[in-house]
Amino acid sequence: MKVLTDKEKKAIEEVKAKGNIPNHIAIIMDGNGRWAKKRNLPRVAGHKRGVETVRLIVESCVALGVKVLTLYTFSTENWKRPKEEVSTLMKLIVRSLKKETDELNKNNIKLTTIGDKNSLPEIVQKELDSAIAKTANNSKMILNLALSYGGRWELVEAVKNISAQVLTGKISIDAINEELISNNLTTAGLPNPDLLIRSGGEFRISNFLLWQIAYSEIYVTDTLWPDFRCKQLLDAIKDYQKRERRFGLVSEQLSKNFKKN
Ligand code: IPE
Ligand code: IPE
Ligand code: MG
Repeated sequence: MKVLTDKEKKAIEEVKAKGNIPNHIAIIMDGNGRWAKKRNLPRVAGHKRGVETVRLIVESCVALGVKVLTLYTFSTENWKRPKEEVSTLMKLIVRSLKKETDELNKNNIKLTTIGDKNSLPEIVQKELDSAIAKTANNSKMILNLALSYGGRWELVEAVKNISAQVLTGKISIDAINEELISNNLTTAGLPNPDLLIRSGGEFRISNFLLWQIAYSEIYVTDTLWPDFRCKQLLDAIKDYQKRERRFGLVSEQLSKNFKKN
């Protein structure tokens, strides 16, 4: 990997020294098309540059000690884009997986995916399965790619699964609780994101982790994804470090000395 400059490495160490690094960061990588349009380039050129940003941000997250990085790579709605854009994106995914799997192993990164894997072209599925298998024993960080992912799709699937379990008598209706629902999502086993970042300036979720972001801290930057660098990531984390996560409680309850009555 080794794409970080010495200055960036130093900045990472400074942010790290403050503690409270998010355990799980999820990113809506938006703005590739606009980046290309501004330069009179085809949208695909923006996606290509976006892949470079991914490398940089993966390396930055590893250096920061982030445990899970979930990247919104392709949504269920993105299938409706022009055919050529979709097919180029799929080719880019295949090419990147081929190219980067060794790097993932060198850096002890485990690759996982969430989303409707079966809807992906066979070649993508094959490459994904291979990269997932090759990196399965890595433990420093999980790089989780949301591919053909939609929060609503995932909830529909979970409802179907749970209903089937009730119908066959495997579980009772009373066994349905938050934990059971979480365990029936494609993110089962992963912690919820602590920090959700969106590049490209839009203040919306676009069908990303609807259930899982119930208490995530949200950070939006105008920076378009191909221009997103270590600096923007660190700005987001610095902002996160200043937040008070109350989870519905009042501030005083969060201090260690607070007496529960
Ligand atoms: C995000 O960039 C990448 C994908 C959705 C695959 P966009 O392609 O949405 O870029 P903008 O939002 O049009 O600039
Ligand atoms: C969200 O971006 C999906 C990904 C980044 C993969 P979109 O560009 O698809 O979202 P909208 O259309 O602006 O909501
Ligand atoms: Mg977009």
